Amino acid sequence: MEQNKDINQIDIPLAKRTYLKNHNSILLKKLLIFSPFIFLLFSLFSLSFIRKLELDQFINLDFQTKRKGDHRILGHLPYKETPMEKLVFIETNIKVHVDMRDSLLKMREEAKKDGIYLVFLSGYRSINLQNEIFYSLKSLRNQEAAERARVSAPPGYSEHSTGFAIDIGDATQRGTDFETEFENTEAFKWLEKNAAKFHFKLSFKKNNKYIDYEPWHWRYEGSIEALKVFEGSNRK
Ligand code: DAL
Ligand code: ZN
Repeated sequence: MEQNKDINQIDIPLAKRTYLKNHNSILLKKLLIFSPFIFLLFSLFSLSFIRKLELDQFINLDFQTKRKGDHRILGHLPYKETPMEKLVFIETNIKVHVDMRDSLLKMREEAKKDGIYLVFLSGYRSINLQNEIFYSLKSLRNQEAAERARVSAPPGYSEHSTGFAIDIGDATQRGTDFETEFENTEAFKWLEKNAAKFHFKLSFKKNNKYIDYEPWHWRYEGSIEALKVFEGSNRK
């Protein structure tokens, strides 16, 4: 009995013990109140961390494929569709990139002075139109995609969608339009000799590994934008 009394005397006063109890419960309440926010913050942080990891992996993969040059599909490089505001008509039904219009028209004028009559056959083609060309002609000719891709680019992979490509024929020999025989025309001979002066280059030469020879298909490389567009193609 005497011992118990002594313990009570050295024990913490009752009021103080009550205070400590209150402090703990306030802390607990605060924790309970804020726990959803803490959970939310933690979730957001985890999500953004996971997304960053995924993005890093994607960038890494993209970089690897770029280095390997794996962007081609059936031998064709990808090209974006040029926005409408950058396109201008050069014929009632033919649009091209505004950057190349003057040079292209000047080339036709200069050719005419030499007695050569160039005719423009096809300029800008939307990805939708390229889609129709690629798939409808492919089935019409009963060809598999790989075969078809030797003469026509899959949608999203045509130089024509950039507005910087132009198919040219000889106005005096329309039978050679889009035909290899176009190379025997005076128009082609003139182009071979003069097109570079106007910043035009033959895209698909005889030695092209993936795509058949297209003597009628020329691309413009006379502006920084055009050079950027064809940088990948020129690098290989
Ligand atoms: N004929 C070329 C390859 C094109 O379709 O773009
Ligand atoms: Zn073409």
